[in-house]
Amino acid sequence: MRGLTGRGVLLTGGASGIGRATAVRLAQQGCRVGILDIDEAGAAATVAACPNGAWYAATDITDRAAVETAVARFEAEVAPVDLLANVAGWERFSNFLDTDIALWDRIIGINLYGPMHLHHVVLPGMVRRGFGRVVNVASDAGRVGSSGEAVYSACKGGIIAFTKTMAREMARFGITLNVVCPGPTDTPLFDEFKSATQDGAKVGAAMARAVPLKRIGQPEDYPGTIAFLLSDDAAFITGQTLSVSGGLTMS
Ligand SMILES: NC(=O)c1ccc[n+]([C@@H]2O[C@H](COP(=O)([O-])OP(=O)(O)OC[C@H]3O[C@@H](n4cnc5c(N)ncnc54)[C@H](O)[C@@H]3O)[C@@H](O)[C@H]2O)c1
Repeated sequence: MRGLTGRGVLLTGGASGIGRATAVRLAQQGCRVGILDIDEAGAAATVAACPNGAWYAATDITDRAAVETAVARFEAEVAPVDLLANVAGWERFSNFLDTDIALWDRIIGINLYGPMHLHHVVLPGMVRRGFGRVVNVASDAGRVGSSGEAVYSACKGGIIAFTKTMAREMARFGITLNVVCPGPTDTPLFDEFKSATQDGAKVGAAMARAVPLKRIGQPEDYPGTIAFLLSDDAAFITGQTLSVSGGLTMS
């Protein structure tokens, strides 16, 4: 893909699942990869899997001061953030009426405030430099809803609307922003979903049957799309939401 080699890319959630697969792909494409994640061991494994390594800072994306420090360090030690991929996410499955406000705060903190902190801290530099590309990983839950995921769905739908608005505000500065929506995917997050439901294995198999392509996603199903949207081949695409979910959601 054009325009990735040598670019500084900051990626949240790179210690596991979709984020790890994406970090490795971007490193293979010649990006200078920085990972922000709370899972130090997982991040170390990702760094080891990246050709020429990667940069990592233990960072809780809900902590604004920590995000500011990590971004400043990456830009001082590695490269300006040309590309930003907000992949980190978290969920605890429960019917809405069984949830409490502490759980809402945690889900909203990670899935909505976290990406908003990253935009607020990183985008001023992109504006100054007149270039930037952002990919936000949301979820099909944010497009069509998902039982047991009311607050998470609200966050992911919020990220879709936020991205469209930011794409409008940022277009004149040469910055594009797009959303990738995974469907059910074989990662620790999906394991948590299966363990939260009675007979999780059966539910997982039923979900796979509901996907037109007859399987759930693998982490490796996403990096190509994310890398494309971060590349110059996608220079004329902004404010778009793309489901990568085996046809589960067609909109
Ligand atoms: N797996 C699925 O079925 C699925 C479906 C739709 C959308 N998604 C989305 O895809 C993205 C990646 O999820 P995944 O399935 O790879 O999950 P995962 O659990 O494998 O990875 C999530 C990563 O986010 C990190 N993280 C969590 N909270 C953090 C915080 N406060 N600060 C920094 N890092 C934090 C975790 O440590 C982990 O490395 C998420 O945004 C998720 O909502 C996943």
